Amino acid sequence: MSITDMVQTADWRTEKHVPVIECPDKVSPGELFELKASLGKEVSHPNTTEHHIRWIKILFKPRDSSFVYEIGNFEFTAHGESVNGPDKGPVYTGHSVACFMKSTSPGKIVAMAYCNIHGLWENTRELELS
Ligand SMILES: [Fe+2]
Repeated sequence: MSITDMVQTADWRTEKHVPVIECPDKVSPGELFELKASLGKEVSHPNTTEHHIRWIKILFKPRDSSFVYEIGNFEFTAHGESVNGPDKGPVYTGHSVACFMKSTSPGKIVAMAYCNIHGLWENTRELELS
């Protein structure tokens, strides 16, 4: 069994665990652009002490390369925990991130999300260069 056997995917419009990737379809080589990855754009995912998104990782696979590169790793660590019990805390991290990246090659952006009880999910989006 490999990691690919453990990662699930689906249409983010109907499956709440699939991260939505928002960025331009096409950028200039080396142009810095904003990239967002989030869950819940169409179907909301719970954010409770018992059930939450633990992290989102963003990777980039250049079309002309055999290797994948890590763009960012975003950990969500507040889910309502407190001395008063689960879901009684005052703060919750939202499972949405934004970062910037640039590339000199077209390729595939990969976003992976980890739910503490439903495992690994991914989505991909092609990035073209003008
Ligand atoms: Fe879940």
